[in-house]
Amino acid sequence: MPVIAPSLLSADFANLQRDCKMVNNSEADWFHLDVMDGVFVPNISFGLPVIEAINQHAQKPLDVHLMIVQPERYIADFKAVGSDHLTVHYEASPHLHRTLQAIRKEDMKTGVAINPHTPVHLLKDVIHEIDIVCMMSVNPGFGGQSFIENTYQKVRDFKEIILAQNAATLIEIDGGVSSANAQKLIECGADVLVAGSFVFKSNDPVQTIADLKGF
Ligand code: DX5
Ligand code: ZN
Repeated sequence: MPVIAPSLLSADFANLQRDCKMVNNSEADWFHLDVMDGVFVPNISFGLPVIEAINQHAQKPLDVHLMIVQPERYIADFKAVGSDHLTVHYEASPHLHRTLQAIRKEDMKTGVAINPHTPVHLLKDVIHEIDIVCMMSVNPGFGGQSFIENTYQKVRDFKEIILAQNAATLIEIDGGVSSANAQKLIECGADVLVAGSFVFKSNDPVQTIADLKGF
């Protein structure tokens, strides 16, 4: 059964408490929280105070996806507002190994996100430092974009690397996930499905989460 992480980027920001309760009462496993700085990606979402507010209501782990430049500046701050997993972009961190060590030192799970153009083999030499690889299946910055089909092959390739290295890294898919691609993603080796618009724009988000969990 896949881990399901609804992305609150597609929630109703004027009703975050209500939407947090919906996720609490669903079969979802994690809260996926997208932080965008308007520099690393061409959009600005929310930051530390909003995560702190979500943490007051969320009863499941906070999976925080940083789409910001120099993420190493804010590791302790994201820990302080309740992050359980902290994901930085490969493309945003010239000293990735050091950044991952700093995240583990703060007692959070480490995540590395890779853009659609970044080959998976670039993570080979740090794989044992990575708890979660967040494979972007859209260009980061916005919810509601269409899934990039090449992702399937990347998942297969990365799964091979994980097995060859005997690593425990989870493969998380982020962007354009729906019931149209969930099954195939899991067959290729995906462990975690992030879904924003597919969950929050549906008529019955709790049921939509249950449907994804059933794949
Ligand atoms: C995109 C974000 C995603 C986004 C996914 O930059 O990282 O987490 O919320 O949204 P959907 O599921 O609508 O593509
Ligand atoms: Zn994300």
